[in-house]
Amino acid sequence: MSFFIGMIVNAALLSIPIGASLGTMIAIKPFRNDIVPIATLNDAIIQMTYCDATHTFHAFAENKNGVNFTINSNEILQEPDSVLCMTITENENATYTSNSTVPEFSITWEYPFTVANASVPLNESKPLIHAFPQATLQDTALPLPIIDLGQLVLDFVWTMGIGDANSPSTSELRLDAQQVNSSVALDMYMDADKTKASEGGEAAFEMIIFFANFGLQDPVGFGNASIFNDRPSIVTTTKLGGVSYDLYVGQNAALQNVFSWVAETPVTTFSGDIGPLFNIILNLSTMPGFAGLGVNIPSFNDYLGYVGFGTQAFNSEGHVTFFVPTLNIDLRPFGGAVTVGK
Ligand SMILES: *[C@@H]1O[C@H](CO)[C@@H](O)[C@H](O)[C@H]1NC(C)=O
Ligand SMILES: *[C@@H]1O[C@H](CO)[C@@H](O)[C@H](O)[C@H]1NC(C)=O
Ligand SMILES: *[C@@H]1O[C@H](CO)[C@@H](O)[C@H](O)[C@H]1NC(C)=O
Ligand SMILES: *[C@@H]1O[C@H](CO)[C@@H](O)[C@H](O)[C@H]1NC(C)=O
Ligand SMILES: *[C@@H]1O[C@H](CO)[C@@H](O)[C@H](O)[C@H]1NC(C)=O
Ligand SMILES: *[C@@H]1O[C@H](CO)[C@@H](O)[C@H](O)[C@H]1NC(C)=O
Ligand SMILES: *[C@@H]1O[C@H](CO)[C@@H](O)[C@H](O)[C@H]1NC(C)=O
Ligand SMILES: *[C@@H]1O[C@H](CO)[C@@H](O)[C@H](O)[C@H]1NC(C)=O
Repeated sequence: MSFFIGMIVNAALLSIPIGASLGTMIAIKPFRNDIVPIATLNDAIIQMTYCDATHTFHAFAENKNGVNFTINSNEILQEPDSVLCMTITENENATYTSNSTVPEFSITWEYPFTVANASVPLNESKPLIHAFPQATLQDTALPLPIIDLGQLVLDFVWTMGIGDANSPSTSELRLDAQQVNSSVALDMYMDADKTKASEGGEAAFEMIIFFANFGLQDPVGFGNASIFNDRPSIVTTTKLGGVSYDLYVGQNAALQNVFSWVAETPVTTFSGDIGPLFNIILNLSTMPGFAGLGVNIPSFNDYLGYVGFGTQAFNSEGHVTFFVPTLNIDLRPFGGAVTVGK
C-alpha cells in the first residue's frame, strides 16, 4: 500500500538531502507538515512524495478540462535495499496549461545490478529491469482501433541526474560515473482484444520508443543477424524531429511481439506526432526478409489500448532522479477536432 510522506502547499520544493542513505529517505514521514497552507482561491500547488518500503505508488492526476493520467510505480523485480519514490506537483484546481498535461513529476530510484543470465560471463552480462514507473494516459478514446488513430502528439522535457534533486539537464558523464543503466521510453500496447490491449501484460503487440537508453540493456531482438542491412539487428531507421530512430523487432519471453525504436542520440525534449511510427510497423510485412524476424505484426483493426511514458530502472550505484517538468500526451482520433495540446 502507498502512503504519502508529505504535502507542501505553495512551499519550497521538497528537499531530500543529497547522499541521504536509503534508510533515511524512507524514514522521513510525515514531512514538513508544519507548513501552514496559504489561503488561496483553490489554486494551491500541492506537492506530494510517495516513498514507502513496498515501492507501490499509484497517483491519479485529474485534468479537469481534458484527459486524466495515473502514475504508477510498476515495479517488476523487488530487491532488498532498493529505493523507488515519486514526487508529483499538482494544481489544486486540476487545470493545466493544456488539456493533455501530466502534472510535473519526478522518480528517484536505486537498484543493484541483477544479472539476466547467470551462465554468461560477468563482463558480458546484461542487467534485469527492476521497475518501469510511468505516467499512463486515461483517455476515454482508448482502446482505439489503429485505423482510427489520427495523431499521437507527444510533448515533453525531461532530465536524468544522479542524487535526489531534480537535475537541470542530463549529463551522460555523471550517469556513467555512477554506473547508471536506465532508459526513457513511451510504452504502447496493441491487441485484437480491447481488454488485452488496455492491460498490456497480455497484449500481443508492444511498441516502445526509447528516447534515451543509457547502459548495457538491449532492446528485444538485438543480437539477431542483420536481415535488412549491414547494421547489426536494425530492421529499419526513420527520422522523427531530426533524430534517427533504429527499429529492433523480436519476441520477448512472454511471446509478445515487441517493436522497439531506439533514438541514436538521447532526446530530452520533443514535440511532435509519433503516428508515423505505427504506419511503419503495420507495413513491415511488405519488407523482403520479414518472415526471418519471427514476429507477427498488428493490423489496422487491432486496438491501441495503452500509452505510458516513463523511465526504466535497471541498476545504479546511488540514487538516480528522473525529472519530467513537461509532459503532454495528446491522442487525436482521426478526423476529431484538434482542440487540445499546446
Ligand atoms: C489553477 O491553478 C494554477 C496554479 O496555482 C494557476 O496557475 C492557474 O491559473 C489556475 N487556473 C484556473 C483556471 O484557475
Ligand atoms: C477525469 O477524472 C474525473 C474525476 O474522477 C472524472 O470526473 C472525469 O470524468 C475524468 N475525465 C475523463 C476525460 O475521463
Ligand atoms: C544463458 O546463456 C547461456 C550461455 O551463453 C545460453 O546458452 C543460454 O541459452 C542463455 N539462457 C537464456 C535463458 O537466455
Ligand atoms: C570477457 O572476458 C573474457 C575472458 O577474460 C574475454 O575473452 C572477453 O573478450 C571479455 N568480454 C568483453 C565484452 O570484454
Ligand atoms: C551499466 O551497468 C554496469 C554494471 O554496473 C556498469 O559497468 C556500466 O557503467 C553501466 N552504464 C553503462 C552506460 O554501461
Ligand atoms: C532471432 O529471430 C529468430 C527468428 O528468426 C527468433 O526465433 C529468435 O528468438 C530471435 N532471437 C533474438 C535474440 O531475438
Ligand atoms: C510499405 O512498404 C513498401 C515496401 O517496403 C513501400 O514500398 C510502401 O511505400 C510502404 N507503404 C507505406 C504506406 O508506408
Ligand atoms: C480544454 O477543454 C475545454 C473544454 O473542453 C476547452 O474549453 C478549452 O478550450 C480546452 N483548452 C485547451 C488549452 O485546449
